Amino acid sequence: MKVVLTHALPDDAALRVDRLGDVCSWTGAGPMPRGALVEAMADADGLLCTLVDTIDGDLLDLAPGLKVVSTFSVGLDHIDLAACAARSVAVGHTPDVLTETTADTAFALLLAAARRLREGIDYVRDGRWQEWDPDLLLGRDVHSTRLGIVGMGRIGTAIARRGVAFGMTVGYWSRTAKPEAEASLGAQRLALDELLETSDHVVVACALTDDTRHIIDARALDSMKSSATLVNIGRGPLVDTDALVRALGSGSIFAAGLDVTEPEPLPADHPLLSLSNCTVIPHLGSSTVETRSAMAHLAVDNLAAGLLGEPLPRPADVG
Ligand code: NAP
Ligand code: GLV
Repeated sequence: MKVVLTHALPDDAALRVDRLGDVCSWTGAGPMPRGALVEAMADADGLLCTLVDTIDGDLLDLAPGLKVVSTFSVGLDHIDLAACAARSVAVGHTPDVLTETTADTAFALLLAAARRLREGIDYVRDGRWQEWDPDLLLGRDVHSTRLGIVGMGRIGTAIARRGVAFGMTVGYWSRTAKPEAEASLGAQRLALDELLETSDHVVVACALTDDTRHIIDARALDSMKSSATLVNIGRGPLVDTDALVRALGSGSIFAAGLDVTEPEPLPADHPLLSLSNCTVIPHLGSSTVETRSAMAHLAVDNLAAGLLGEPLPRPADVG
């Protein structure tokens, strides 16, 4: 069996991959270049990739023996699931093990943006802190406000639980109703327009699909409160970046906290980074030692099962 690994794995997960067969592992700096991936795939039985690798029909056609694609992510927007299904290639991903860590990151961004932590840190670091000032860097309350979740999946629900612990009332928009979250968290399902108009803080946590690309566009941003905070923990293209730059610059929303951006990585001279009311971190949602280890092991579990033609522990829903 030949396995292609597009990125080194943390913890002892890499040793487990070594035991599965001949491993072709990308060890260069940065993501595995497409050319190197194409070359490596010709006789591959299994692929363990990350969210930066594009897995499409063209690539699959170069790997006629491929049995399984295992991604080191829960998000699947980088994989053409229909193309995999058409070629009987199993697809596995890493749900659940990263849910709580990613929800922590979203909440950290919400607090950082609403309470202007980035500006506060710069203020101290720049030596501008001369006195206690009652008007200094006034933010917006998070506790006891209204939280709006766009995409009430696993991570959206985990963020909602954190909101309830902060005394927030929770509204959500999802394709399907979530009776459990409604019963246990008092969450209220709303139309997207109403959610955006009434929420004090909006967190985007849905999957990126053709339906959700730029779900937060200029019109959506315009409908939000001028005191509102926007957090994106899902995928960069869920938000229209140019429209967000305008909304933050004009003050039509209060602040934003972004774990994901479009483009990604965000160039250092990007307009978003010159806005003091925008906090950007480099896609760190699931980035803890514990969670990345759990993801790596689950990705190897999926890979191993797929190579043997067994059901994957966590298969992607191919619709
Ligand atoms: P999940 O439980 O599958 O939730 C996905 C959410 O997206 C659900 O609310 C779902 O709606 C919604 N959705 C899916 N397809 C849709 C469509 N076509 N139209 C409208 N809504 C759609 O997944 P999860 O584990 O919570 O992860 C959610 C996303 O977060 C991932 O896809 C990934 O992109 C992102 N993520 C980011 C990080 C990070 O590091 N920033 C880490 C992990 C995940 P329904 O509720 O109606 O099904
Ligand atoms: C991270 O963004 C993931 O999808 O796991």
